[in-house]
Amino acid sequence: MEFKKNILCIGAGYVGGPTMAAIALKCPELRVEIVDINAERIRQWNSGDIPIFEPGLAEIVNQVRGKNLFFSTEIAEGIKKADIIFVSVNTPTKTFGEGAGMASDLQHWENTAHAIVAHSQGDKIIVEKSTLPVRTAEAMERILKARRGGIRFEVLSNPEFLAEGSAVMDLLEPDRVLIGAHRTPEGLAAEKELVDIYAHWIPREKIITTNLWSAELSKLVANAFLAQRISSVNAISALCEKADADISEIAYAIGSDSRIGSKFLNASIGFGGSCFQKDILNLVYICKSYGLTEVADYWELVVKMNEYQKRRFVQGIVRAMFNTIAGKKIALFGFAFKANTGDTRESPAFQVTRDLLEEHAYVAITDPQALGNAKQDLQGTNGRVSYESDPYKAAEDAYAIAVITEWEEYRHLDFERIYRSMKKPAFIFDGRNILDHGKLYEIGFNVYPIGKKALTHFE
Ligand code: UDX
Repeated sequence: MEFKKNILCIGAGYVGGPTMAAIALKCPELRVEIVDINAERIRQWNSGDIPIFEPGLAEIVNQVRGKNLFFSTEIAEGIKKADIIFVSVNTPTKTFGEGAGMASDLQHWENTAHAIVAHSQGDKIIVEKSTLPVRTAEAMERILKARRGGIRFEVLSNPEFLAEGSAVMDLLEPDRVLIGAHRTPEGLAAEKELVDIYAHWIPREKIITTNLWSAELSKLVANAFLAQRISSVNAISALCEKADADISEIAYAIGSDSRIGSKFLNASIGFGGSCFQKDILNLVYICKSYGLTEVADYWELVVKMNEYQKRRFVQGIVRAMFNTIAGKKIALFGFAFKANTGDTRESPAFQVTRDLLEEHAYVAITDPQALGNAKQDLQGTNGRVSYESDPYKAAEDAYAIAVITEWEEYRHLDFERIYRSMKKPAFIFDGRNILDHGKLYEIGFNVYPIGKKALTHFE
């Protein structure tokens, strides 16, 4: 079959994979190819066992793979053929040099820009999909324009707002799609091409078009605002535990104000994931580099509050368990940074495990999807960590359970059976407020929720 256009995506990760699958599904007249330098990852995408767990994604990939969706390692060949190239390589926080711990490490991204220059033989539209510091498109343009020979590259910014665990729904029915372009005739023409792709399934009024810098910055700001809500509610959760108020009641009461809204007000052990912390630190770094110290400090506090909440959780465990957990087994229910994903990047579970080990506890980790990643993350830790796919086994002979991830199945466990298998007095620290605390208390547990009064059998 003749395809109308060739779309290439460089980077077969959490953003590139699902986004291209959605485009291939909705635009059968386009040939969509995803390339990556990681041959193993490409092999997995081409196998029956795709490399990321995302509800509904495998079904879509099965439907379109080999028809108009292809995965390969042939980057140069892909670039040559492509009319539109999405750049979706990872941009982790820098771990070295200037801006370490804050700025984005752009080496993959820059290598990609050079590869595009080296292998292009005709005009192309380049779409930034990776979350990038504002004005990165400018750097991309500089690299692309450094080559003479009359080839035109038009750079667009099309930040991705999908959340893990709901990626397919977020892609098929997004709140909005954002496309940033230069307000020049060429920029607007390129913008229209991308708008036309999304318009296959997204109502036109939900496709927002802006200038390039606004689109880039909107991504960072959206994540900063979302994370800020969590840090705000978590800050109040600490106050609730002292003042005998209930954070769920407060979240409901304030969330009923339509100006505030009810979403993203769940107090928790802290936010994780590949985006929130990275994007805020990026925002902080940008503000600092423009000399905006107060603005930088304001946003940095969102991350500091998150660190405090994670630390506070383990401190609460130690205090409740008579100031020592040395030699005690603690079962962690969940290691993923949130439910419905196997992803553990920046998961609060990591810091909790490290802090528990520092207190010389034994840690038994269970998670329905993330055990493989947990093992990798904790490589090199001493032998006091064990991994159990069965939560009942993880809890056996434990002194305490700490709920880290809000997996639905944890609500439906037989806690009477779990209680019988544990050391007494048995403790539950519900870092997600998902369990029935009154019922657990009746069974005999000492229950410590987040931002609510603890229910204990002690005098
Ligand atoms: C986020 C943004 O939501 C998404 O738009 C962006 O594209 C990428 O970053 P994601 O990291 O997949 O998505 O997860 P999200 O659902 O936003 O949750 C982030 C973290 O916040 C998780 O650890 C989650 O458990 C936590 N969280 C979320 C809370 O602690 N309380 C809440 O009320 C909501």
